[in-house]
Amino acid sequence: MRWEENRLLMLDQRVLPGQEVWLELRTHGDVVSAIKDMAVRGAPAIGIAAAYGMALAALKGADLKEASKALAASRPTAVNLFWALERIEKLGEADFDTLLTEAQAIEAEDLAMNLAIGRSGAELIPQNANILTICNTGALATAGHGTALGVIRSAHDAAKSIHVWTCETRPRQQGLRLTAYELLKEGIPFHSIADSTAGSLMRAGKVDCVIAGADRIASNGDTANKIGTYSLAVLARHHGIPFYIAAPSSTFDSSLATGDEIPIEERSSQELTHIEGVTIAPEGCHVYNPAFDVTPGTLIDAIITEQGIFRGPYRF
Ligand code: MRU
Repeated sequence: MRWEENRLLMLDQRVLPGQEVWLELRTHGDVVSAIKDMAVRGAPAIGIAAAYGMALAALKGADLKEASKALAASRPTAVNLFWALERIEKLGEADFDTLLTEAQAIEAEDLAMNLAIGRSGAELIPQNANILTICNTGALATAGHGTALGVIRSAHDAAKSIHVWTCETRPRQQGLRLTAYELLKEGIPFHSIADSTAGSLMRAGKVDCVIAGADRIASNGDTANKIGTYSLAVLARHHGIPFYIAAPSSTFDSSLATGDEIPIEERSSQELTHIEGVTIAPEGCHVYNPAFDVTPGTLIDAIITEQGIFRGPYRF
């Protein structure tokens, strides 16, 4: 994301890695659409985009309360969105300059938190580790560096010899399209795998740890993240492999006692039935497509934050 000449420029994640297209967002409505359609995605990036959306609303003289409501209704699970909007709301009827400064602060703070997460988390990664990850939690999903992928990046920067297994992440393939794109750019050794390959790799002793990001963490450590994360945590526990979550403090929701209270977004059936616009399912096929699942805190060996490494039982 880049703020330039009163526009929010955004790398369109829907068409990566085939094309690098920068969208020009000029109104908060453009930002709402970009979040809904997943041109921008990843919990911290959604929060940052929403903050810039509020700056655009002020710039265009829109009703700030209405703008905030529209942005809040774009996606329900990642708490970073609501966290960023609440930060903006606390400024009251602020002018454009104030809101832009706050959006830029939110973005800069996110990058700083990710670098700190990376520093702490890299200590958990042994030499010659095979690390399994899901979805995209890298620079694209944040202000930069990334959370789970930030830990991987920091371990690589610390000259640890590592190899990454990146789950494809059906149905939107954030792992195959976006994580692979980032790892290639960074020169970090990896193989992409179909989601269903994870169990057999663990059984073969080819996974030393699993690390994932988060969209919302309840006070007992229950964590919502991309659908498939829970299965990986169960598999990891069965095979005695450490399972880690990496997330900044903007992802914690201490108002929720457990993960059962986290709203889980359901997305369109077309995400499952179509690939690149082509139907692969019979007409009339019924689909259930939750975008996230909840991993109980009891299956998470450590939660890596900018404030350090936490281990269960969790009380956030
Ligand atoms: O649906 P997405 O692509 O927005 O889901 C993203 C994830 O689940 C990420 O793991 C999470 O937001 C953390 S990103 C640092």
